[in-house]
Amino acid sequence: MTEIALTVNARDVEAAVEPRTHLADFLRDSLNLTGTHLGCEHGVCGACTLLLDDMPARSCITYAVACDGARITTIEGLDDDEIAGELRAAFAREHALQCGYCTPGMLISARDLVLRLAEPDERSIRVGLSGNLCRCTGYVGIVRAVRSVIEQRRKRGVPPLPGGNRSALGPVGSGNGTNASTNTAIVPAARAETRHEDDTRREDTTAIPDFTPAKIFEEHFTVPYPPDKVFEMFGDVARIAGCLPGVALTGVPTPQRLEGLIRVKLGPISANFHGAARIERVPENLSGRIVGMGSDQRSRSSTQGEIRYRLVPSEQGAATRVELSIGYSLRGMLAQIAREGLVRDLAARLTADFARNLDRHLSGVRRDGSAAEAQNLNAVSLLIDLVRTRARKAIRQILGR
Ligand code: FES
Ligand code: FES
Repeated sequence: MTEIALTVNARDVEAAVEPRTHLADFLRDSLNLTGTHLGCEHGVCGACTLLLDDMPARSCITYAVACDGARITTIEGLDDDEIAGELRAAFAREHALQCGYCTPGMLISARDLVLRLAEPDERSIRVGLSGNLCRCTGYVGIVRAVRSVIEQRRKRGVPPLPGGNRSALGPVGSGNGTNASTNTAIVPAARAETRHEDDTRREDTTAIPDFTPAKIFEEHFTVPYPPDKVFEMFGDVARIAGCLPGVALTGVPTPQRLEGLIRVKLGPISANFHGAARIERVPENLSGRIVGMGSDQRSRSSTQGEIRYRLVPSEQGAATRVELSIGYSLRGMLAQIAREGLVRDLAARLTADFARNLDRHLSGVRRDGSAAEAQNLNAVSLLIDLVRTRARKAIRQILGR
């Protein structure tokens, strides 16, 4: 058991908790605060959302011991809160609940939106509530209720609070209060490898910092081409980016650096991470590393990631086993729901697609031997290619040929 001291609904609490007890169980079982509901217990449904140091957080994936010194507010603690009161009235008026199971978590997230959004914009409200699932209402009433509260408050001259007035993160804060631009800032390189004339080009000499990944896992696959051929392909940044599902380049890559966008979907949230990556290659042992960082404005999440690869000859050198070590750290809203299993599944799927695309492009290069064509390939044309190939395959299957 571990001793913790925290504030729950403005009351000082001291308790001894098991390290494995999550915050929702602690509140419900030890403090009898059963307004915090548990649905999935996997950080996906949002039923257990509460305020942790004034920020919405999933209590089912937050350990109670990690909340030592934190300020917790549950739905019970918002009984006298002005915004929560207005939201409760609006929810009743707009029929925004049926069984009510999702409602405590929904109200906490909705209150956060009322605090932050300048306009009662439906899309922003739907995005803001996308981490709270409701099995009954169809969301129309909920969105209408939240819109009406924002609208009325702005009409009364109550301004939004930039960032929800968050100034500090708690010990297990969701990361929403961090400044995304800080996380994605490109740190100037300690050593410039190339001299460039203009500012845009000079950006190429900046470096993406090293980091220690929070999670690392391994993947591997084999392609039927010799290691030197595969290593050569790995050096063609545009083509390799085109083989990665969901990746699009947003700038002209150099052999050392690329800028791009990766689309991912984790649980109920989709994110477009814009970022940059540094590329390193070691021809002596056919290995390399890609270190990148990016952020997604919509989910207010940021990530740092690293892919290390090693090409190992197999089948007497006729094939290559590609060994990957994938490491990442995630901050923000996505970190709340991105359980390791979800990310691992996603990485396994991306790796399988990458292996298929790599195989296809290696065979394409071998067939026509055209370096010029390879250079002209970009992410869009690769995607079109892929769709075309799949369409052809589907038609062949339908025609039974
Ligand atoms: S119970 Fe916590 S997110 Fe579902
Ligand atoms: S009102 Fe029943 S789950 Fe939302």
